[in-house]
Amino acid sequence: MNKTIIVSNRLPLQVIIHQNTLKIIPSVGGLATGMKSVHAEGNGIWVGWSGIPEEELSTELSEKVAKEIRKEKCVSVPLTLDDVEEYYEGFSNKALWPLFHYFMEYTGFEEHEWEAYKRVNQKFAEIVLENIDDGDTVWVHDYQLLLLPQLIKDKKPNITIGFFLHIPFPSYEIFRTFPWRKEILSGMLGADLIGFHTYDYERHFLSSVKRILRLDAHFNQISYHDRLIKVDSFPMGIDYDKFYNAALEHSSNSKEKSELYRRLHEHISEDKKLILSIDRMDYTKGIPNRIKAFEYFLHKFPEYKEKVRLVMLAVPSRSNVTQYKKLKRETDELVGRINGKFATVSWTPIWYFYRSMPFDKLIDLYISSDVALITPLRDGMNLVAKEYVATRINNDGVLILSEMAGASLEMNEALIINPNSFEDFANNLKRALTMPLKDQKSRMKFLQKRLKRYNVEKWAKEFLKSLEETNELKSNIITKKLLGEYENNLVNDFNKKKKKLLLLDYDGTLIGFKDNPQDAEPDDELYNILDKLQEKEDTSLVLVSGRDKETFKKWFGHKQYTLITDHGVWLYQNNEWTALERPKTDWMQSIKPILETFVDRTPGTFIETKKYSLAWHYRMTDPELAKIRTIELNTVLTSMVANNDLSILKGNKVIEIKSSNVNKGRAVSRYLMQQDYDFITVIGDDWTDEYMFEEAPDWAYTIKVGFTKTKAMYQIKDPEQVRQLLNKLI
Ligand code: ADP
Ligand code: G6P
Repeated sequence: MNKTIIVSNRLPLQVIIHQNTLKIIPSVGGLATGMKSVHAEGNGIWVGWSGIPEEELSTELSEKVAKEIRKEKCVSVPLTLDDVEEYYEGFSNKALWPLFHYFMEYTGFEEHEWEAYKRVNQKFAEIVLENIDDGDTVWVHDYQLLLLPQLIKDKKPNITIGFFLHIPFPSYEIFRTFPWRKEILSGMLGADLIGFHTYDYERHFLSSVKRILRLDAHFNQISYHDRLIKVDSFPMGIDYDKFYNAALEHSSNSKEKSELYRRLHEHISEDKKLILSIDRMDYTKGIPNRIKAFEYFLHKFPEYKEKVRLVMLAVPSRSNVTQYKKLKRETDELVGRINGKFATVSWTPIWYFYRSMPFDKLIDLYISSDVALITPLRDGMNLVAKEYVATRINNDGVLILSEMAGASLEMNEALIINPNSFEDFANNLKRALTMPLKDQKSRMKFLQKRLKRYNVEKWAKEFLKSLEETNELKSNIITKKLLGEYENNLVNDFNKKKKKLLLLDYDGTLIGFKDNPQDAEPDDELYNILDKLQEKEDTSLVLVSGRDKETFKKWFGHKQYTLITDHGVWLYQNNEWTALERPKTDWMQSIKPILETFVDRTPGTFIETKKYSLAWHYRMTDPELAKIRTIELNTVLTSMVANNDLSILKGNKVIEIKSSNVNKGRAVSRYLMQQDYDFITVIGDDWTDEYMFEEAPDWAYTIKVGFTKTKAMYQIKDPEQVRQLLNKLI
């Protein structure tokens, strides 16, 4: 039976060694707590790190750990102390985490940490590959493993891979500062489906892919080599029933109350309220900011002194990383200062716990608090906010939530605040404390309804369903016309036939695109291939290009191949140039100034002036701006071209204007009249080559380079594969 392999840096369980004995505790953090219920149900396995560096385990303990982990359907990836320091604390948590959360000032880029990141992602890949069977699905999680999807895809191209990022994806302006931005994006693109919590993260990612890798994305699909990759948002939910039922049980009269519950309730009455915050101790959670805002609140509304208490649980996290140490110190000091400033004999404004708590105590905190104050400065989702709502079995209580948390987009009925505004903070805290019960209930009911419906199980199912659908996408759109298995027929045919013709486009077909068209001159390998084809008996080789005569003369004038240039204006055969068409060029005077205005307004674009045509290249400009400008230009030109017998050709990141009665198809059909051929292969990559495909006889092999819509019979990935094919004909 096929299985799903979950892969994340941290396993849902953590191993702790105390006096040579093992203790297994659940991991904290949204990823582990959320995916745990998904993992518990399926027949899959979870690959990740146990939380202990290898050096701290004796052989005997190591075996014990592996055994304990296996019991939980997990497989551990052994990390050394160096790995932990450089890959986990280093690259993951000193570079990626702060940058993706917009804390640029905390971000450090260290080459050796990047090397460790690559090395450890490779380690994960090896363990996944050891455990994978054909037909399995792999679901990779989070920022520690951004390179993993491609590492797996390289080795197992047919395995379906999903990737989900649990933290924000920052805007392009932030992401572009990353020295290894291309490698990171390419690593992620090994997945067939890439998921984010919100549409904003999704659009930031797409924007980076378009700008940095210069790939095309249509709606939420990216074409990448011979693959289509789907990108979508799936806001993660919680195990609603687990929290709701636990709250029911903890509130029931028959249940013996815990010490914590009793102590909390000593301080709750009609006019004495508890305000709760729970976070990992992380600078993204805005803990010092919250404390200061609470101080501001007590100043602004002094009547709440001795009436409210902030219960603040901060779970230790990444405590070896400098910024986290500083944060801990700052928090300790702030709590001390404010408690010192406001406390009375019977009242302390902040109860602060710096520790991890078991689930039962977490529930007691949730059900005992009148207000939850969840105010991160930046947070991918924030599950604590959702957990608080799920435990409000009587529909009372108020959630104050930062608009910087992904969760705020789906929790409109909470009091949404900007955590940077103390005014907003204090006013909403007052509003929460005075909110009529009726109002609390109606808001809570709305919130609960959504969380119950879109719970973590549903979230995972939707993701996996969407991942499965990518398989259809693969077979429908791409592989339908893939040359692959037909390649042998073509080669056999070629070897058998006696009058053979090869019509080959140049740019994007025989050579990849360069930023500047003049840089795309033929290399030795290409000359060699073309020479050998030319020398073959019974074979005519024709290069058919939109390039101008002068350029081709320079590049191929000393060769014997036939050339058709300027989209079909000139024919070079037997050392002689013949004009196939005599197009007018007087229109250029009026069109060129228009193109110039577009160049002025669109940085990165330029005009290529050819003898019979004008081309506006926009490969190097911002992709979104290019989209707007190409529509604009098209509109402006449409009215002009009709009157001048011109046509507009949309090539690969270029718009070309030329005389209507010139195109590659016309030139090819004339050429075909010279002789009868019994074998024809036409290869081209863009719109202008479609004319050739149309003119070729039905039995010809017409091959499109790339995977966009075409009239050609077959498709092939890129110029490199074209060269491989031509080599087979030699
Ligand atoms: P993050 O993923 O940044 O840690 P989230 O709010 O999304 O933040 O997730 C935190 C998760 O950790 C929640 O599911 C919460 O229940 C759990 N958690 C928080 N504090 C504790 C704790 N003290 N003990 C155990 N689990 C905790
Ligand atoms: C966040 C991240 C997770 C991470 C968790 C706890 O939820 O998205 O990937 O596991 O924090 O952090 P830690 O560094 O302890 O694994």
